[in-house]
Amino acid sequence: MIDKIKSHIEEAKAFHTDSKEKLEEFRIKYLGSKGLLRELFADMRNVPNEMRKDFGLIVNQLKNTAEDKVAAIQEQLESKEVVKGIYGDVTRPGEPINIGSRHPISIVKNQIIDIFSNVGFNVSEGPEIEDDWHNFTALNLPEYHPARDMQDTFFIQTNPDILLRTHTSSVQVRYMENNQPPIRTISPGRVFRNEDISSRSHCIFHQVEGLYIDKDVSFADLKQTLLYFTKEMFGKSKIRLRPSYFPFTEPSAEVDIYWGLNNEIDYRITKGTGWLEIMGCGMVDPNVLKNCNINPDEYTGFAFGMGIERIAMLLYQIGDIRMFYENDVRFLEQFKSSI
Ligand code: DAH
Repeated sequence: MIDKIKSHIEEAKAFHTDSKEKLEEFRIKYLGSKGLLRELFADMRNVPNEMRKDFGLIVNQLKNTAEDKVAAIQEQLESKEVVKGIYGDVTRPGEPINIGSRHPISIVKNQIIDIFSNVGFNVSEGPEIEDDWHNFTALNLPEYHPARDMQDTFFIQTNPDILLRTHTSSVQVRYMENNQPPIRTISPGRVFRNEDISSRSHCIFHQVEGLYIDKDVSFADLKQTLLYFTKEMFGKSKIRLRPSYFPFTEPSAEVDIYWGLNNEIDYRITKGTGWLEIMGCGMVDPNVLKNCNINPDEYTGFAFGMGIERIAMLLYQIGDIRMFYENDVRFLEQFKSSI
């Protein structure tokens, strides 16, 4: 009898399983209410007195072995369950997380801000929905001025005084109305024009406006500032200013940079000239200063305005302006920047 129990002990010790059901079978077999141990304890009565002590000891040993076994396997199975858990197998290598990238327009805008803030310009902003005064009239473009046609405008049908700003020059006006010289500010922002969408133009785009007003500001200061900018932005150190016309500046100029003719692309984008137009500029018209409560006898200043898309297209060799607005991740994820 004792040998039989000993062999049960060995059997219980050797038992192993990964399955909950098998463990339950094992538990019932040994510890269940009709299990082996119940039977053995019941048999205790029939064991002769002198053997009862040894018998009791060995049965208890079997009981402890079976109980320990059940507890140990149960713990093992539970810890495996946690690993599988609701998260699956937590020891598996993770899925890579795609880090987003900044939009190329933001990258270029931030670069422009950086370059000008290094020489003392602050950043100012204004509303995209403007009134006639700030977008046109204060900028020396009174009603019926033919130059209003230079920029096809989105008007609000019920109120012709309200429009979507056609340029960031409107922020110049707001800034001068609220600040006295010395003024050094750049105004990046979104602008709107009622134009057909093509690879070269869009009805929504971005500009950066620059404004510098102080005593004795001259055209030479304008040229130096723009030369500094083109060196920093493009690494090109040759610019030229061509006479032009803007109602809000006098004299006015268009700025070209010498891009060079080093390869086929250069020939294509500069139409074989090597020169690229990048912005408009000029000395702020005294009328504009007056409109903004700045005394033109005391102060002079310069202004300039450029399209951010155009600069980004040149820097990154992007052939179609529509790419900026299509939000195609294959396009967007090519731009990684710390700025
Ligand atoms: N506002 C002009 C445009 O959208 C750009 C411009 C030209 C801005 C000359 C200026 C400037 O401040 O002086 O075409």
